Amino acid sequence: MNTYAQVFQGTAFTSQSPKEIKVLKDHLFCIDENGVIAKILAPIDIAYNDVLKEYENTDAFHRINEGTYILPGFIDLHVHAPQWIQAGTALDIPLNDWLNTYTFPTEAKFADVDFATKVYADVVDTLLANGTTTALYFATIHKEASIVLAKTCAEKGQRGLVGKVVMDDPEQTPSFYKDADTKTALADTEEFIVAVKELGKSTKQGVYPVVTPRFIPSCTDEALRGLGELAKKYDTHIQSHCSESDWAHGYVQERFGKNDAQALNDFGLLQDKSVMAHSNFLTDEDAQLFADTGSAIAHCPVSNAYFANSVIPIARFMAMGVEIGLGSDISGGFSPSLYDNTRQAVISSRMLEDGVDSSLPATTRGVPNSRITLNEAFYLVTAGGGESLSLPIGRLEVGFAWDAQMIDTRTANARLPIYEVDKKEIDIFEKIIYLARPENIREVWVQGEKVHTR
Ligand code: GUN
Ligand code: FE
Repeated sequence: MNTYAQVFQGTAFTSQSPKEIKVLKDHLFCIDENGVIAKILAPIDIAYNDVLKEYENTDAFHRINEGTYILPGFIDLHVHAPQWIQAGTALDIPLNDWLNTYTFPTEAKFADVDFATKVYADVVDTLLANGTTTALYFATIHKEASIVLAKTCAEKGQRGLVGKVVMDDPEQTPSFYKDADTKTALADTEEFIVAVKELGKSTKQGVYPVVTPRFIPSCTDEALRGLGELAKKYDTHIQSHCSESDWAHGYVQERFGKNDAQALNDFGLLQDKSVMAHSNFLTDEDAQLFADTGSAIAHCPVSNAYFANSVIPIARFMAMGVEIGLGSDISGGFSPSLYDNTRQAVISSRMLEDGVDSSLPATTRGVPNSRITLNEAFYLVTAGGGESLSLPIGRLEVGFAWDAQMIDTRTANARLPIYEVDKKEIDIFEKIIYLARPENIREVWVQGEKVHTR
């Protein structure tokens, strides 16, 4: 019997550190039967030729064509699956109006399980086709439809972390879209957790339940406290929105006399497996609380350009040791592509820096040291996402899941501008991250299984 379930031969890019990309040229990636990377061999390694000889004429062997490169799968730390049906809609109005006029009526439609089944299949297919191998989803308040989203991930092979959304505060939620009451919200969440935990056991890649208070304004104190307890009891991930816009941030200040981070922590909602979307207005003290509790930020740069009323100082939070990954925030962000969000993460950070040149006297135009590099943005969308979720994903390294995307730079009608003068692989890496489109994503693998082909 062969030692490995599969062996891939090709050139790959993975993060070595936030600043450095590791180029693995013509390496062998040996995958075990659990879909985990068991060994990586360089051409100079003694075992390289033996493994090659043993596998190259078998079905377990995959030679990646010249011009095609292997990247880790991307990790979306914040995506509202039901909002896919309104992607690109009404982004010119403020967050609270957008929620009440568009988003809550949209999500209310998912009481219809058949409708949810159809839309969720489309969402998961779309994300996989964009190279997203793991997604942390908000579903809706509906228990049944939320379980459908988890099942869809299980069936399609995506690593899905799914939350049934809690909105129980009658003052802040519309009568047509709210949990019946606090007790029901907590009971439904507990049943959802048990069902999805069970479902996850039958998957290779893992599907997980997530405790999901929508944001502080939509939840009563009792619900927030109860959700913190449920997360502890079942050791689940937790997600919510934190300090997103002036309005949301101000509301929490008025209700509790403190910022979101402190309030969430008081309810037991900041812990190692917590991922808080946006978190634009964290003070240094709030950010330190994130770092101390191991809570992560889902940075959503496209969405933030519309709803945040600010640019998040991501470089500052990275330097403080906060775990950070990227999120599409469909549909606050219009794009299902984490490529778009990686590019926007770089662009937004440079807007915050806004022309400050350290060789010139300080100006009031921007904040020094705000920019992040493309390598750092790539780190966030891969390794940073894995750290945020406390899962062994996001890196092409021994012990990590084989979650990968094969990027064909020579796809007809989507050829990247790579010529003989591009001698360095790292130039090709940069072109892929800035220019690749879904047409270039030829194959997507999750936990050693092929889940998308184009
Ligand atoms: N805050 C509360 N709910 C939402 C939502 O659905 N999207 C965004 N961007 N922010 C929110
Ligand atoms: Fe959101």
